[in-house]
Amino acid sequence: MNNTFIQACRGQKTDYTPVWLMRQAGRYLPEYRKIRGKVDFLTLCKTPELAAEVTMQPVDILKVDAAILFSDILIPVEAMGMKLEFSEAKGPIIYSPVRDSVAVDRLRRLDPKADVPFVVDAIKLLLKQLDVPLIGFSGAPFTLATYMIEGGSSKNFVNSKSMMYQNPGLFHKLMEKLTLTVTDYLRAQIDAGVHAVQIFDSWAGVLSPYDFRTYALPYVKQIIAGLATKIPVIYFPLNTSAMLPLAKESGADVIGLDWRIEIAQAVETLGHGVAVQGNLDPTILFGSKEIIRERVTNILQGAVNAQGHIFNLGHGILPETPVDNAVAMVAAVHEMSLKNR
Ligand code: CP3
Repeated sequence: MNNTFIQACRGQKTDYTPVWLMRQAGRYLPEYRKIRGKVDFLTLCKTPELAAEVTMQPVDILKVDAAILFSDILIPVEAMGMKLEFSEAKGPIIYSPVRDSVAVDRLRRLDPKADVPFVVDAIKLLLKQLDVPLIGFSGAPFTLATYMIEGGSSKNFVNSKSMMYQNPGLFHKLMEKLTLTVTDYLRAQIDAGVHAVQIFDSWAGVLSPYDFRTYALPYVKQIIAGLATKIPVIYFPLNTSAMLPLAKESGADVIGLDWRIEIAQAVETLGHGVAVQGNLDPTILFGSKEIIRERVTNILQGAVNAQGHIFNLGHGILPETPVDNAVAMVAAVHEMSLKNR
């Protein structure tokens, strides 16, 4: 097993900088589109053999140092009793959004055995074939709450914030329910054998520091403390470079960074006791090979003082990305970081 990724998560010295890409299994790969041409997205997530197959694709094609389970952060939302659909045009749609106490009370707690057996089965299939670590994941309670309340993606999060500022007690109640579900969901993945977990907080950046501290962070802290796991936990709150000290309070082993901050500045602000993951702008992969190498080198140099650096994009790889540029980026990370040791 190539353990470079885990060593970097733990802040240990590595021979080279490990790299993986958020959304590394997806539409930019013709091999993925071939399978997606036959089944819809939710069926793909719920069929262990197919989920395992698309999880493996970027490991073989890109030569990344970790695999991430193919699934979606909204799978537990469905398991809690909401009707979920993925529309080609609009992205996720969640019917009958949660707007009042009746809707919050109706939400079930996820039962991993009954609700997400396919996740556990996909993990077991993957552990038999992988020679790199497998990352499990969940959405963070705040990000999942926004999808439940808005009914899908949103621009200004008016419904979520209306609940937060009109009925904070109800918002906290929803967050408590989500916290139990996320903890159970991650626990099931850990028990099945994943080597690390990542908590995606894709919408944390729409909160002020005060609201992040009040409504989002305490629940992430509770999840990480509750898991009390020895495997690395990565917390990725997108668009929160101005709140890094708060992100560190989560208790995660690794903080994910987007590209809106110099990685050296993030390393300095975070200080010791935590590793960093990131942070190439995903659109750099639309540039020339020279520019890609140059920007990779900048990030590797910016992270020299990090207590552990996992190279990644600052957000998911885009569907239009040229595959050969993604391959070149991974190779550049390996080559340039090896040179610098
Ligand atoms: O990273 C991986 O390769 C593992 C799989 C993965 C997916 N989604 C597959 C996916 C992971 C880790 C996610 C996380 C996820 N899902 C997040 C957090 C990360 C982020 O991007 O901020 C969020 C917010 C979602 C919700 C979601 N799922 C949206 C908004 C969409 C529609 C937008 C889009 O890209 O189509 C999805 C669909 C989705 N999830 C796809 C994939 C490969 C595309 C579905 C398809 O094949 O048509």
